[in-house]
Amino acid sequence: MKVDISSLKQLDKFAQSFSQSVKAGDIIFLEGDLGSGKTTFTQLLLKHLGYEGRVKSPTYAIYESYKLGQFELFHLDLYRLSSPEELYYIAIEEIIDKQNVVVIEWPQKGKGVLPLPTKALSFNMKNSNSRELILDVR
Ligand SMILES: Nc1ncnc2c1ncn2[C@@H]1O[C@H](COP(=O)(O)OP(=O)(O)O)[C@@H](O)[C@H]1O
Ligand SMILES: [Mg+2]
Repeated sequence: MKVDISSLKQLDKFAQSFSQSVKAGDIIFLEGDLGSGKTTFTQLLLKHLGYEGRVKSPTYAIYESYKLGQFELFHLDLYRLSSPEELYYIAIEEIIDKQNVVVIEWPQKGKGVLPLPTKALSFNMKNSNSRELILDVR
């Protein structure tokens, strides 16, 4: 499915409807260049899943986690990973769990260690405000 997003407001609406499909066990890949909106989308998704606190980009920590009512959501950013095996340092095998939701920016950096996603979103920057999103639900 392809969606045109021409403003942050539209991204927020998309994140809201996407949030209704998110369930424990989901592994959600977010692909796309730097600045294409992966972190912004995750922040909006967490908001719609009921999280009220601050959401920071996990670039330096590799991951942040958020306890929600229904499940715990792990937000990973693998941009700085130098090899997929580094995922074992953060105990990836405990993060990837049927009870958790895992949202992963730069998933290609974890190739070979990460399982396949249940949902994948690919962000395409069209101009400063507008994005094209390709959603693939497996
Ligand atoms: N339609 C849009 N979708 C996503 N981000 C947008 C959009 N319009 C503007 N932006 C801006 O683009 C930037 C995206 O940054 P970020 O979410 O950190 O990207 P990434 O995590 O993919 O590197 C943010 O400053 C955001 O406000
Ligand atoms: Mg980011």
